[in-house]
Amino acid sequence: MNNDLTSFVHWFRAAAPYINAFRGKTFVIAFGGEVVSDGQFVGLAHDINLLSSLGVRLVLVHGARPQVDVQLKERGAKIRYAHGLRITDELALASVKEAVGIVRVEIEALLSLGQANTPMAGSDIRVAAGNFVTAKPIGVLDGEDLQHTGEVRKIHAEAIQKRLDDGEIVLLSPIGYSPTGEIFNLTLEDVAAHTAATLAADKLIFLMETDGITDAKRKIISTLTVSDAQKLLGKKHKLEDDVSYYLPAAIDACRKGAKRAHLISRHRDGALLAELFTREGVGTLVTPTPLETIRQATIDDVGGILNLIEPLEQQGILVRRSRERLEMEIGQFLVLESDGIVVGCVALYPFPEEKAAEMACLAVHPDYQRRGLGDRLLEAAQALAKKKHMQKLFVLTTRAEHWFEERGFIETAPEALPKRKQVLYNYQRRSKVFRKSL
Ligand code: ARG
Repeated sequence: MNNDLTSFVHWFRAAAPYINAFRGKTFVIAFGGEVVSDGQFVGLAHDINLLSSLGVRLVLVHGARPQVDVQLKERGAKIRYAHGLRITDELALASVKEAVGIVRVEIEALLSLGQANTPMAGSDIRVAAGNFVTAKPIGVLDGEDLQHTGEVRKIHAEAIQKRLDDGEIVLLSPIGYSPTGEIFNLTLEDVAAHTAATLAADKLIFLMETDGITDAKRKIISTLTVSDAQKLLGKKHKLEDDVSYYLPAAIDACRKGAKRAHLISRHRDGALLAELFTREGVGTLVTPTPLETIRQATIDDVGGILNLIEPLEQQGILVRRSRERLEMEIGQFLVLESDGIVVGCVALYPFPEEKAAEMACLAVHPDYQRRGLGDRLLEAAQALAKKKHMQKLFVLTTRAEHWFEERGFIETAPEALPKRKQVLYNYQRRSKVFRKSL
């Protein structure tokens, strides 16, 4: 096979777990009116169609800022903002109604485009609209009456779910209605965050101007916990406009029930698919709890652990363990899981008669190294040993002596090992023995 085909096959296989995992899940995808005015929605429509055909329940939330500005200009009206929010007077409201109508119709048209020879061929997407959003006025901010600018009061989740159950895509606009029949101009991030939270959506995805959230060195931050994201907002350094709208919304949604939020670029073609169907993604993922957790291994982890340690066994870094042995000893293992995949492990063999334990098979997948995960596994193993009233920890290593030395281990002779272990000590392998008091 040529390289392209090999990488395609590799890619497709790597995507399989996500294809499986996403079936029947609910994603809220939010994007500004720029996506439509810049002609990018055609490409996005193809990807949305693909997601829908994989059984993802989709809610789209669109904005209409540039379109509203056009309408205001045509009416010769001034564009007025306060606290980052549009002041929606009567004239602005008329502009909002018109602009939202135009954007909606365009989105619906593009989602209906079932042309042959395109990814849309044979697609039959129904787009559902409705008064799913109840709003209330924001009122007066610092002496400025925002008039028809409002905020979400309630999302009619059941009505949306029914549409999704019927296989429709729900399209929400940034407007809401009050029980007294008034219309309010809302921000798309407010609608998107409330919707994702109320539906307990599996994902809230924002398409932004930038590639994701960047750190002080302008490098993309791949994953952030909600609390780290909150800290980032608290820092003084200036965030891009988009980030300052979308990150708080992402945090809010995750706190109130959305499972995770993604912030990705609207400019990179295919960013949505790359984010969703690869492990590393391309933007920033915000999760309520850390993606990486350490827990006791179960028999279901045997396959994952084997995948992880086999390459290391081949390189002679770890001692070979058969599947049978691993199955028998699985109770001795802790695994480090990242997003449901086993990416690290460590085993702890206790020798209670000598109040000592051997730590073995410490491994972290190459893609996950240099992030302090080895330290976390070591700490977890140490904590477990202490809990079991062990006073010292042994480790045998051929290749990682410095790593252990830097962490307080001291080299010792094989004769210092617990008796039962000494018998098994492999003099040919000539591992170095290290110990640490707990
Ligand atoms: N594809 C996975 C998902 O959709 C992981 C994405 C990881 N993205 C990231 N920016 N770290 O959940």
